[in-house]
Amino acid sequence: MSQRVEVWIDALRATGSPVVSVFDRGLLYGDSVFETLRTYGGRIFELEAHLERLKSSAELVGIPWLPEFENLGPETRAQVESAGFPEAYVRLMVTRGEGPLGLLPDPALRPRRITLISELSLPGEEFYERGAKVSSFVAEPRFGLKELAGAKMGNYVLGIRALRAARQQGADEAIFVDPNGVVSEGATSNVFFVRGRTLLTPPEEGILAGITRAVVLDLAERAGLEVRWEAPNIDELGAADEVFLTSSLRGIVPVVEVDGRTVSSGVPGQWTRKLRVLLEERALQRSLNGTRARDL
Ligand SMILES: Cc1ncc(COP(=O)(O)O)c(C=O)c1O
Repeated sequence: MSQRVEVWIDALRATGSPVVSVFDRGLLYGDSVFETLRTYGGRIFELEAHLERLKSSAELVGIPWLPEFENLGPETRAQVESAGFPEAYVRLMVTRGEGPLGLLPDPALRPRRITLISELSLPGEEFYERGAKVSSFVAEPRFGLKELAGAKMGNYVLGIRALRAARQQGADEAIFVDPNGVVSEGATSNVFFVRGRTLLTPPEEGILAGITRAVVLDLAERAGLEVRWEAPNIDELGAADEVFLTSSLRGIVPVVEVDGRTVSSGVPGQWTRKLRVLLEERALQRSLNGTRARDL
């Protein structure tokens, strides 16, 4: 691998080729939870919110939350600093740990935390100027059980399949729809659309409640948009005034095409642009005044 990736396993920095047991249940059964984070101005954005979601994901799948995991905030910040990248991509994982084969986990298993940090690499500004194309992917609620969609679990096979299908159709992101065409979320993003002065997004039930989504909802209300929770069908999405996606790594991504249909005039909308600026400002402000650092 040419990219430098710094790895910590149970808070110990791994050198050489990091190794995790083939009996780790994260590998055997996708029995793990994770978070993807990034820095702005060298500081992790919304670290506390990500750690809360990591903990709630672990609770949802029944992975015990060890006392030392309470220290993940300062621990991760120190790791980011020591990795020394100008801006960092951070992946935090908690697996149920290593144990005998068999589906039912032994309660004595010791969960393991793994942190990967590399240099942040994002699409260039021209991608945001041009806007993304999305295509729908029909699936039942992601894990059969709606509540599990709220857990960020290690198994992303459905997302991988959806994203590959989207790429084959020349789209940048896949949008999950149910068999009736009702939109839930993207393969790795949340979906928003604008009608007039109203910002709409599917309700939290059955989706991963994005950290960026929550920040954007707050920014939108402050900016004078009315916020409503509504799951459109895919045709309504394409007919909206503006459409955009949110995720921790890419922030706000304008959408200009839905299933081959051009959204509005085919360029990123004005609210989308404004919210993008506001999100960057919020992230850099947090970084400058160190709010999150003090919180932790
Ligand atoms: C399925 C899914 N929905 C939504 C999101 C966006 O969440 P966040 O803003 O917390 O990155 C992600 C991010 O990876 C995701 O995988």
